[in-house]
Amino acid sequence: MSEQILIFDTTLRDGEQCPGASMNTREKLEVARQLARLRVDIIEAGFPIASDGDFEAVKAIASEIRGPRIAGLARCIDKDIDRAASAVKPASDRARIHVFLATSAIHREFKLKMAQSEIIKRTVESVKRALSYCKDVEFSPEDASRTEPEFLAEVTHAAIEAGAKTINIPDTVGYAAPHQFGALIKYLFEHVPNIKKAVISVHCHNDLGLAVANSLAAVQNGARQVECTINGIGERAGNASLEEIVMALKTRKDAFGGYGTNVDTRQIYPTSRLVSHLTGMVVQRNKAIVGDNAFAHEAGIHQHGVIAKRETYEIMRAEDVGRSSELTWGKHMGHHAVSRKLEEMGYKLSEEEIRRITEQVKALADKKKQVYDEDVRALVEGQFTEVPQVWKLDYLSVMTGTIPTASVRLIRTGKREPISDAGTGDGPIDAMLKTIDRITGVKGNLVDYSVGSVTRGKDAVGEVSVRVQFGKEKGSGGKIVTGRGSSTDIIEASALAYLNALNRQLFEQRRRAEAEKPTL
Ligand code: KIV
Ligand code: ZN
Repeated sequence: MSEQILIFDTTLRDGEQCPGASMNTREKLEVARQLARLRVDIIEAGFPIASDGDFEAVKAIASEIRGPRIAGLARCIDKDIDRAASAVKPASDRARIHVFLATSAIHREFKLKMAQSEIIKRTVESVKRALSYCKDVEFSPEDASRTEPEFLAEVTHAAIEAGAKTINIPDTVGYAAPHQFGALIKYLFEHVPNIKKAVISVHCHNDLGLAVANSLAAVQNGARQVECTINGIGERAGNASLEEIVMALKTRKDAFGGYGTNVDTRQIYPTSRLVSHLTGMVVQRNKAIVGDNAFAHEAGIHQHGVIAKRETYEIMRAEDVGRSSELTWGKHMGHHAVSRKLEEMGYKLSEEEIRRITEQVKALADKKKQVYDEDVRALVEGQFTEVPQVWKLDYLSVMTGTIPTASVRLIRTGKREPISDAGTGDGPIDAMLKTIDRITGVKGNLVDYSVGSVTRGKDAVGEVSVRVQFGKEKGSGGKIVTGRGSSTDIIEASALAYLNALNRQLFEQRRRAEAEKPTL
């Protein structure tokens, strides 16, 4: 068996730091379950000191997820380390504490105001403190790629001597160039006498679009762990993308040293879709591996070549990354066939969820001629963001023209009679949302609205994503909630997305109120 590169996924920590990509605990758990199916080696579940929500999410993931190691991030500060230790504790022997401290001259002088000797001292103390809680400790010298190599070697040596099992070399601001970053890793191997006692990891940001190239250059020079995120989401321009790293190592074993990973590549596409759906971060069409166009051949000459022999224009098989064939779905499909097909697509659902999806597939097949995998993905992903439906759409009719008018009927859980109202607005969507606000008595401000087609054809399923600020005036800093809805009718999808956001807001409010209730 070839030597393995460990895949450290930081979608739930660095990825979630990406503006607008925040997820609640339930959503983070859903992503963590999928990452376990993807078989990543380590899940960095969050930064426990950052907020109570982060702490809760890391703890929930450490309690439930089996398989990967679960890491929590901490600055080299006692209270951070203690908090991270308590959050990852339920993972017992799979728990990891990841401590970091900046080492570059610019950070030392302007941010930390610490001398080199103080950095070394704090590193050693923090690694030891983390080790007093768990035996798996990782240390990151932040901004390593802009640190003087001699000092970086000194810090690395001290951290390993103190007991760190992994040393992660971050290119924090995405400044490195592949040949230089590779040379830096080589330098460490040549100048840190105890380096063989630790795994050398890399963590590259994509500010110059070089994150994947830099990570691979590091692998060629001795790195054996790569930190990355699904779809490359992360701070600013993002992190190295997991799918690109894994597929480059797999497809070009000849070029990158023949290393393998433990990743089940057939889970790549379902994971990408799930993360995109839950964070609202749309994947660009031409994104390598997971973009809509990644395996599409438009030009006739390419299509002809691929039909004659796939390898003429394809270097990977779509099936290998979980993009399954276009076997059509239909209303005559039974529970068993649906279950098998969902499994092929990478989903492991409960019997109850499969029953619900089967019903939904049948209903969709009544509305549109052809049901594609993408339609079904939209249905499955809809379940992941499901919250109790306090408000449910019962009837909707919208008229466009000089005075756009909407008639809406909603059902409130627990009430026998539906509530109807009608109103006008600046456009059909505005008329409908204002009417919904009047019925529910909750005012929402639409901060963002986007519509995409989930499938092809004139009867395509459209998916609407909204970001809504409830209760406060637009721009006033109130919490922004995302909502999604899909339907073959785009106006109906908009209403469903808006109600989904409202129901999520009510769910969060109730959850917070319950958490704040005084206990006796
Ligand atoms: O980019 C970075 O330096 C980080 C560290 C915390 C590893 O995210
Ligand atoms: Zn980072």
